[in-house]
Amino acid sequence: MKTIAILLLTLSASLAFAQDIALPAPQTSGGKPLMQALAARKTSRQFSDRALPPQTLSNLLWAAYGFNRPGKRTAPSARNQQEMELYVFLKEGVYLYDAKANKLLQKITGDHRPATGKQAFAANAAADIVLVGDIAKLNRELVHADSGFISQNIYLYCASEDLATVVCGSIDREALGKLLGLQGQREALYTQCVGYPAEL
Ligand SMILES: Cc1cc2nc3c(=O)[nH]c(=O)nc-3n(C[C@H](O)[C@H](O)[C@H](O)COP(=O)(O)O)c2cc1C
Repeated sequence: MKTIAILLLTLSASLAFAQDIALPAPQTSGGKPLMQALAARKTSRQFSDRALPPQTLSNLLWAAYGFNRPGKRTAPSARNQQEMELYVFLKEGVYLYDAKANKLLQKITGDHRPATGKQAFAANAAADIVLVGDIAKLNRELVHADSGFISQNIYLYCASEDLATVVCGSIDREALGKLLGLQGQREALYTQCVGYPAEL
């Protein structure tokens, strides 16, 4: 009886701390024209620890993988499987991007950014976006191709907004899968670190 009471207390405490974030509606106009964004696109690995404002986070995630028409997204997906999921690691916790609800659903509390990559900069970037693909829905090659489109969307958004970003294949996929509690054949494929550039 006592054990059950303790379990219930622990569960309600963790639920009370789980805080989803309702994002502001994405701003789908503005930014640099496409050719200027392409001219500015680059990898940057030096980040300031400054947090991204909610509006920037919303715009970034919409650009990455939001819905831009009924049922379809800013990134193409093979056979329209939409098998990708974006986990967003912030200082406050780890969240799953719910593009339909335009929300970040909290999955873990606390700062787990260092776990998203093998290079030290992952711990400094304001948002580390882990691209997770469901290999049960498509073959592995197509899932990797689909993740590339999302990555390039992030690169172009960052170029457009003068943010720093780097996509990383050098990640501990198994450890990330365990941390995120990925079910079925979902796999962490890449981490894309995003933030304000470090002031040098
Ligand atoms: C699939 C892929 C994986 C990458 N993995 C890493 C990585 O683990 N660490 C890193 O610092 N950069 C990584 N990069 C970034 C490349 O090093 C970078 O794109 C390349 O040096 C060209 O520079 P640019 O993006 O500025 O044109 C990766 C890029 C791609 C496309």
